[in-house]
Amino acid sequence: MQANPGFSVVFDLQLAHGLCSGVHIPPWQGALPDEALGRLSGEEQRYATALAQGRQSTWVAGRIAMRRALQRLGVKADSILPDDRGAPILPSTVVGSISHKRTLAVAMVSEAAGWTLGVDLEDHSAPVKGIARRVLTPREKDEIDRLSEAGRSRAVLLRFSLKEAIYKAIDPFVKRYVGFREVSVWPADNGSAAVAIHFVSDPALAVETCWMEYGDYFLTSARARAIDRAETR
Ligand SMILES: CC(C)(COP(=O)(O)OP(=O)(O)OC[C@H]1O[C@@H](n2cnc3c(N)ncnc32)[C@H](O)[C@@H]1OP(=O)(O)O)[C@@H](O)C(=O)NCCC(=O)NCCS
Repeated sequence: MQANPGFSVVFDLQLAHGLCSGVHIPPWQGALPDEALGRLSGEEQRYATALAQGRQSTWVAGRIAMRRALQRLGVKADSILPDDRGAPILPSTVVGSISHKRTLAVAMVSEAAGWTLGVDLEDHSAPVKGIARRVLTPREKDEIDRLSEAGRSRAVLLRFSLKEAIYKAIDPFVKRYVGFREVSVWPADNGSAAVAIHFVSDPALAVETCWMEYGDYFLTSARARAIDRAETR
């Protein structure tokens, strides 16, 4: 086995909302190696090396995943730096989003056609405790309380992930913190999910979301677009 496989592409998927690529994050200790930095532009290298060491590998892996996804669309990006709200700045012909956990980063892209995108990744292998009250609306909580104890942790985490993907997709329109209880989601076993937005936004938004499992992860995606308020009636 190779001693250190580096940041390697582990999947290329076609999701409902865009092309998604995943990059394995190897367990680096200390500063990032030249092999990883060499895959970034000069501006990105400067940005990455100024981050706290624990954050450098996920930021770099997100860029590598994003470049891979863009390459599949035939789009080149010189530098992928964050905007003033933290979202990746991409060429104007595309929209995209990034998520990462300790050992995996994902990026999803699509051609720009009025929709914005969000992607999220959550590890469901270990039970997550104590987030239900913050993440769920009272109605969602009632529904989840009816599940077996074993199913509850997964059910909460899946809703958390769907809402984070939605947050990333709607942030360019609302440009504010949106609490988890301002949105409801109802995931179905087939990977689809219904969404209800409980706040009034200008413009009004159409939001779609869906999910799948990749190994120990929930991989969720969302897209949003502005609509005439009449379309919501
Ligand atoms: C911003 C936020 C969604 C990031 O989620 P996270 O689970 O902490 O981290 P993830 O790994 O999934 O995503 C991080 C990536 O999100 C992207 N991101 C950060 N801020 C963003 C924003 N405002 N809009 C879109 N994408 C954003 C970045 O690409 C970032 O990675 P990078 O800095 O390495 O480029 C989360 O921290 C947050 O603040 N959520 C607000 C509350 C919320 O989700 N409410 C849901 C109601 S709809």
